[in-house]
Amino acid sequence: MAALKYAGMDDTDSEDELPPGWEERSTTDGWVYYANHEEMKTQWEHPKTGKKKRCAGALPYGWEQETDDKGQIVYVDHINKRRTYFDPRQAFTVEDVQLKPKRFDGNSSALEVLHGRDLSDRLVIVTGANSGIGFETARSFALHGAHVILACRNQSRASKAARLITEEWSKARVEAMTLDLASLRSVREFAEVFKARKLPLHVLVCNAGVCTQPWRLTEDGLESTFQICHLAHFYLVQLLLDVLRLSAPARVVVVSSESHRFTDLMDTCGKVDLNLLSPPQKQYWSMLAYNRAKLCNVLFSSELNRRMAPFGVTCNALHPGNMMYTAIHRSWWLMTLLFTFARPFTKSMQQGAATTVYCAVAPELEGIGGMYFNNCFRCLPSPQAQDTTAALSLWELSERLIQERSTPPAGARTL
Ligand SMILES: NC(=O)c1ccc[n+]([C@@H]2O[C@H](COP(=O)([O-])OP(=O)(O)OC[C@H]3O[C@@H](n4cnc5c(N)ncnc54)[C@H](OP(=O)(O)O)[C@@H]3O)[C@@H](O)[C@H]2O)c1
Repeated sequence: MAALKYAGMDDTDSEDELPPGWEERSTTDGWVYYANHEEMKTQWEHPKTGKKKRCAGALPYGWEQETDDKGQIVYVDHINKRRTYFDPRQAFTVEDVQLKPKRFDGNSSALEVLHGRDLSDRLVIVTGANSGIGFETARSFALHGAHVILACRNQSRASKAARLITEEWSKARVEAMTLDLASLRSVREFAEVFKARKLPLHVLVCNAGVCTQPWRLTEDGLESTFQICHLAHFYLVQLLLDVLRLSAPARVVVVSSESHRFTDLMDTCGKVDLNLLSPPQKQYWSMLAYNRAKLCNVLFSSELNRRMAPFGVTCNALHPGNMMYTAIHRSWWLMTLLFTFARPFTKSMQQGAATTVYCAVAPELEGIGGMYFNNCFRCLPSPQAQDTTAALSLWELSERLIQERSTPPAGARTL
């Protein structure tokens, strides 16, 4: 015995052995409890291991549960004609493990959110993935095994970003593809090239954005902040919907901003006003254009979810954090100054990517969409962003703008 003890093999299931004076019992519905006869008390936890257990499955063949004259549960073995107070299923109890989702907050990083996750069966597209939050999002997914496509407007910046990730982990599956959201033609070409490869698509992160840009019309004749932040993403999702549906459960994640709270999009008739979204130069204020585009992000996300959730494609919008020192401020010196002052107090880019990856893969969000997240928590967006009429009106306007500017390629779906 001593030799076995030193070899660590003296009693393999001794952990479950009860101390003297204890007895294991079970309730009618199979929960195991422990009775201490010396102290005349009972408890759910095993006195040594602290684990809770329950009896798995039905009673063995020939057994039946009955109640005796004193109201106690008794188990009758009809085959061997015997009775016992011991639940025969206790020989096959299973541990009651309650998997509680881990809580994340504003200090969590994207890599912490993904800790322990194997994403090698997922294909993820991240727009604007060559810098800032998009880069950290793509990097975090790739380091967890996902096949990540960096959809960026500048091929050399995108290739450099992909190289940085593969230098960190040589097995990372990252690749760069060209997508310029300021051109609907480019969006269409991106979708065509992607679809020709017959790959699945499990997560589409609409992250790319511009802020406080000088007024400029895109080649499609629309104000560029509106097109880059909203309309081109709307079009991209439309073109990839069939792939998302085939890959369901799939998720679309839209990176918005708390800035969405400071504006509205409706005209006096209760319709989304194109003049507010794509104003002429004289009525343009770059900060307001950004706020409106970010409100579009939340409205689009909830309407997309409403239409696509029945097909297993869910969508959530989010705020990544306040004034993180990415490249977003570069169009206006005043923004650069503000971002520089705020820099010591704001989130890192890894922390900025946390809510995005949370919305993209958190198991507790499976099948859940139409919500708005901040710091990995669900919160309410502005009342304007909750307006379902505005969401529908924006959807119809976006569809119209796309139709006026393009001939949909064969196979594109309209919702
Ligand atoms: N930073 C913050 O504090 C903050 C706060 C709230 C929300 N956000 C949101 O977070 C998202 C990411 O921004 P970020 O802070 O990470 O800024 P960022 O570093 O400037 O990243 C923006 C990305 O969008 C890309 N992009 C711009 N125009 C594009 C176009 N026409 N086509 C394709 N891609 C284009 C940029 O590509 P280039 O490098 O080629 O320009 C870049 O990769 C944005 O949607 C932003 O609104 C940021």
